[in-house]
Amino acid sequence: MAAARVLLLPVRRLLHVPTRSPTLRTYASGTGFNFILVDKRGRGGSVGLIQLNRPKALNALCNDLIKELNQALKTFQEDPAVGAIVLTGGDKAFAAGADIKEMQNHTFQDCYSSNFLNHWDELTQVKKPIIAAVNGYALGGGCELAMMCDIIYAGEKAQFGQPEILLGTIPGAGGTQRLTRAVGKSLAMEMVLTGDRISAQEAHQAGLVSKVFPVDTLVEEAIRCAEKIAGNSKIITAIAKESVNAAFEMTLTEGNKLEKKLFYSTFATDDRKEGMAAFVEKRKASFRDK
Ligand code: COA
Repeated sequence: MAAARVLLLPVRRLLHVPTRSPTLRTYASGTGFNFILVDKRGRGGSVGLIQLNRPKALNALCNDLIKELNQALKTFQEDPAVGAIVLTGGDKAFAAGADIKEMQNHTFQDCYSSNFLNHWDELTQVKKPIIAAVNGYALGGGCELAMMCDIIYAGEKAQFGQPEILLGTIPGAGGTQRLTRAVGKSLAMEMVLTGDRISAQEAHQAGLVSKVFPVDTLVEEAIRCAEKIAGNSKIITAIAKESVNAAFEMTLTEGNKLEKKLFYSTFATDDRKEGMAAFVEKRKASFRDK
């Protein structure tokens, strides 16, 4: 309910609030949560903006922060005006990982019986596209969270890493799996086994991030991309997202079969008819998400 209240706030301008510590610059203005800020941006509030906001701990991903994130994502998923979501952090850290202090005393039994970290995966169930806008550190769970998103944009000082090995553990929220699929075995293995970080430029070269921007313009650029996505049909966008994600789960033959079925399914929608009619009639398509 807190999230619902927050999202009823009027859409506000992006706040470029200069502060002494760049970690504290806020991009979203919504309150009502303890560890995140939420806002709606873009034309008609078509972009849901979530900023991780636990700067003193470099946005370490404690249990309550993930719960709040899931709540905000659910609210944006259910909001018909929102077509895409941007997830960002602070300028010093997107997120410096799972909260080490919180998990320090966990036993195997605690982890096993509580399905520790399982609720992080809720982000991957969101049908609307999510763009991670990463400035600063994206380490451990921070890197894993970014990789659960659909597109990663990086600020030019961003650093990505899976340093769990230095803590005597290994990634537990997809780090060994998504990173390997994103950058290939050799670089993933090197990062996971040494704990070494890679720069935004290296991450771009390796295919982990799609674009690199100056720190100051990163979030605006991510919002611009999200707004562009939100201007398309939401139902077709969700189908496209499902189809691309299937590439990570299936063989090429299975994936192509699924894609064909999903492609056919678009012919059952009004938006497919409208999109093609608009092209033939030389006008801009007006999608109704049906
Ligand atoms: N969990 C809990 N707290 C964390 C944290 C994490 N993953 N990462 C940073 N913090 C806290 C620090 O404990 C410190 O809190 P304190 O002021 O109460 O001591 C605060 O955030 C600032 O961190 P600090 O280490 O002083 O900043 P730095 O600029 O010197 O170093 C990092 C930044 C990111 C290199 C360093 O904090 C780090 O290595 N963090 C852990 C990264 C990691 O191993 N992630 C994987 C977790 S599974």
